[in-house]
Amino acid sequence: MRITINQIKEMKKTGEKVSVLTAYDYSTARIIDEVGIPIILVGDSLGMVVLGYESTIPVTMEDMLHHTKAVVRGSKKSMVIGDMPFMSYHISDEDALRNAARFIQEGGAQAVKLEGGINVADKARHIIQCGIPVMGHIGLTPQSIHQLGGFKIQGKTTQAALKLLADAQALEDAGVFAIVLETVPAPLATLITQRLSVPTIGIGAGAGCDGQVQVINDILGSFTDFVPKHAKQYAKLADIIRHAVSEYDKEVKAGSFPTSQYSFSMDESVMAEINK
Ligand code: KIV
Repeated sequence: MRITINQIKEMKKTGEKVSVLTAYDYSTARIIDEVGIPIILVGDSLGMVVLGYESTIPVTMEDMLHHTKAVVRGSKKSMVIGDMPFMSYHISDEDALRNAARFIQEGGAQAVKLEGGINVADKARHIIQCGIPVMGHIGLTPQSIHQLGGFKIQGKTTQAALKLLADAQALEDAGVFAIVLETVPAPLATLITQRLSVPTIGIGAGAGCDGQVQVINDILGSFTDFVPKHAKQYAKLADIIRHAVSEYDKEVKAGSFPTSQYSFSMDESVMAEINK
C-alpha cells in the first residue's frame, strides 16, 4: 500500500518532516522507494536534468507520462506525484482535468502538482473535486521564468511576500494537500508554514518548512551544468561516472576487457566440429 495524502497531512500534525525527492526512471525510483522516502515527484525538471533543455518549458505531457510510468513501476510504497507540464492546465478547466486524469489513469501516479497560486486555484479546485489530489507550487515557478525574469529569489518585498501568503491561502482553500515553496526567504517560508494547515515542502526555503524536496541529480552531483545554492551534494556522481567511463575506455582500447570472467565458454568438441 502506498503512502496516502492523509498520512502526509498527518505528518504536519505530528511534526514529522516530509522528505521528497524527484525521480525520472525505474532504477532510481526503486532505490528511493526502498529507502522509505514517502513522496517521489516526477518533476518537469526532467526537461533540464534528463532531456537537456534549457528550461522546463519544452516538456510535454507525453514526456511526463513516459517517465511517470517508469517511476511507478519502480516504486511500491512511495506516493508518486506527476508534475503537470507547461500549458497542460492553463487553457481551460476541462483541459486541466483531462491532463491531470492522464497522470492518474495512464501514468499510474497518485497525485499531480501544478505551479501557481491564486491564478490556478480554480483549476486545482476543479481537479480535486473530481477526485485527484493536487500539490501546489509557489515562489519560484520555473514554468513562468520569462515572466519572473530569471531564476530569482521570490517574496523579498512586502508586496511580494503578502502576495505569496495570499497564493498559499488560495491553494489551501482550493483543497491542495501540500504546497511546494521554491526559493523563498526562510523567515517568510516559516511564516507561511505556520499559517497553513497543509504541509509546506521547501526547496531553497529554509528549515522551517514541514518537509523538503530536492532534485535527485542535484543531491547526487550527477548534473553539473549548474548547481543551485540550495542543493547540497551528498555524492559527486559525475566524478565517479567519469572515472568509471574512462577506465572502461582504457581497458577496451588495451584489450584487457573483457577477461574470461566476463566472457562465456562453450564445449571444445563443438568448436572442433565447427572448425572442421
Ligand atoms: O520539477 C521539479 O523537479 C520541481 C521541484 C524542484 C519542486 O518542481
